[in-house]
Amino acid sequence: MENKYQNPSLSPKERTEDLLSLMTLEEKVGQMMQISYNTLTLEEAEDWVVNKNAGSFLHVLGKEAEHLQELALSNRLGIPIIFGIDAIHGHGLMNGATIFPSQLGMSCSWNPELIEKAGRVTAREVAADGIHWTFSPVLCIGRDLRWGRINETFGEDPYLIGVLAAAIIKGYQGKNLSDADSIAACAKHYLAYGESTGGRDAYDTEVTYRKIREVFLPPFKKAVEAGCATFMTGYQSIDGVPMAVNKKLLREILKEELGFEGFVVTDYNNTGSLITLQKVSPDISDASKKSVEAGNDMIMATNDFYEATIELVKSGLLSESLIDEAVGRILSLKFSMGLFDTKKRSGYVSREVISCKEHQQVNLELTRESLVLLKNSKNILPLNRNNEIKKLAVIGPNADNLKAQFGDWTFFTHPDPKPDAVPNFEYYTMLKGITELSASRGIEVAYHKGCDLLTDEHDIEGAVTTVSDCDAIIAVVGDCVEQNGEFKDRANLDLSGSQLELLKALKSLGKPLIVILVNGKPLSIPWLYRNADAIVETFNSGILGGKATAELLYGEFIPSGKLSISFPYHSGQTPVYYNQLSGWHSPKYVDLPDKNALYPFGYGLSYTKYQYSNLVLSTKVCNKNDTITVQVNVTNRGKYDGTEIVQLYINDKISSIMTPDKELKGFARVFIKAGETKTVSINLSISDLALVTPDEKYIVEPGEFEIMVGPDSRDSSLLKEILVVK
Ligand code: BGC
Repeated sequence: MENKYQNPSLSPKERTEDLLSLMTLEEKVGQMMQISYNTLTLEEAEDWVVNKNAGSFLHVLGKEAEHLQELALSNRLGIPIIFGIDAIHGHGLMNGATIFPSQLGMSCSWNPELIEKAGRVTAREVAADGIHWTFSPVLCIGRDLRWGRINETFGEDPYLIGVLAAAIIKGYQGKNLSDADSIAACAKHYLAYGESTGGRDAYDTEVTYRKIREVFLPPFKKAVEAGCATFMTGYQSIDGVPMAVNKKLLREILKEELGFEGFVVTDYNNTGSLITLQKVSPDISDASKKSVEAGNDMIMATNDFYEATIELVKSGLLSESLIDEAVGRILSLKFSMGLFDTKKRSGYVSREVISCKEHQQVNLELTRESLVLLKNSKNILPLNRNNEIKKLAVIGPNADNLKAQFGDWTFFTHPDPKPDAVPNFEYYTMLKGITELSASRGIEVAYHKGCDLLTDEHDIEGAVTTVSDCDAIIAVVGDCVEQNGEFKDRANLDLSGSQLELLKALKSLGKPLIVILVNGKPLSIPWLYRNADAIVETFNSGILGGKATAELLYGEFIPSGKLSISFPYHSGQTPVYYNQLSGWHSPKYVDLPDKNALYPFGYGLSYTKYQYSNLVLSTKVCNKNDTITVQVNVTNRGKYDGTEIVQLYINDKISSIMTPDKELKGFARVFIKAGETKTVSINLSISDLALVTPDEKYIVEPGEFEIMVGPDSRDSSLLKEILVVK
């Protein structure tokens, strides 16, 4: 006879309760295990499924996943495995799938609709590979630029991160989690992981709970509201308390206060690190007990958690009800996702979707919108408007460097790095994109690498010779995967190797010097700021980066991207995020020209010019529960039609505690034809003006608020009006 839990017409809750009641303790603890496939032999992996009922695996693809799933389904209760993977800018661990710009790159589009589409594309390709769950999005706040994982963030602003998080989660999870091509999302790394002191990955974080509620929690709250299925616990500690044992944040705030109903997975061997790195537990028994009590439901890659936890429960040291709660959350997601039903099985979504035309089109659009034009002296771009270029020099270590262009989390770097892998798809390095588009316009291209990124090795003379009969230079510089990612924090954000020397030699030739940056994070580039004729920031732009960048150079589309993160003058200026508190004695560091960033948050040029006028608030006096409308006129004063990203900032003029000089609270993307004026309206809910009190309450204090609207976060760019809240 069929068990109740096998009846698909019952609710996930009813099915979970029934299944739990049939499970042994060993089977339950097995469900809490997430096993890292690439660290085991096939026999060991099979043993985890057949004899220990492992609930999840990470980093197993295609046929191997299918094989493990078949084994799991033939177990006593036939509980399916949930397979997880880091598909964080496309299903990049699979050679052949779509690779989008990094999260940092895509965030510069400020385009939630397109980012949702990117999430959908990723979900389809991951599902076609028989996998159910992506460890994405990263909602860490990218404030300390030395941190190795800045490339994985949506930038530095909690509001923008929250909006983009909700969009990509919607994309991954689709209309229904149970649809064949929907996958579960994972908001990570909960919480304040990016803020560790000194930008040192997984180190201690000195944030307070007030700051957590003001800055770090809001994007995760948006993820809960968007129905994000899972959360991942961060590696770091907060004021000496490792996140993996932080009951207040995991249980009390996430699960009880925010009402998160999904499950929490630890990060890789968080439980083991309590013993070996963080040294708050003497042994695995203590570490396992603390991890469960704090509110972790699934344990990633700490395999001895299994025996230790069974023993803890048997000896009465850990309550079985906590195990039931954790397993209940895991099973409930498995039921809601339809993992017990056939349509979540491998082969249900055709592999033909992988990198299909439609997906490439979404990627191309997103890549175009992710590019940010930082400088364009004398409107040198778009290139060749007067047919002045017959031959173009493409110079630099990142011109033909697909690995640097992809950035972290592709098959080149994870799970077992394959730096020599040969991509089995068509891709565009900067060189390829520029060469192809130039050829179609009758322009010849000469290439020279010029120098290495990591060593002092160079052939600057060779590069200079290459340039000798060219009419303009495109220099492609930046950083590489060895300088980004886990374990790869940087103290020095200058251009590494001999890149600056190369650039100086190129500049001395007196030809137009256009610089393309291919990099994981903002670098300190004051020389470029002063000396390049044009600068295009591409971050890690994925498979079509070279194509989209070439199109931008030749004006095939009008750039609209804006920075989601600030650039420093100097490494020592970091953190240089825009939403700082007031109160610094000095107006700036004595040895830097400006208090503000070199290129600030929100900044980005276009080939057309926008003028802002007539900022009007729907009311000048309002109550705490109101929503007001902020209107501004934006005129396209240039020659090209374009899309402008209009930004709304606020400042609480006098408050009981210090509040940031500016905080983004809204934005709008508007298409404006050349010569046209559009009235742009952005709603502002007054509850969004709340500050967090020292006793962790959100309150809107009556008084004056400055409402600021403009093209970027610089003071001089913004129109301002005063709003009085009663
Ligand atoms: C990273 C996570 C990732 C996990 C699984 C960890 O080292 O911090 O972001 O999801 O590995 O690959």
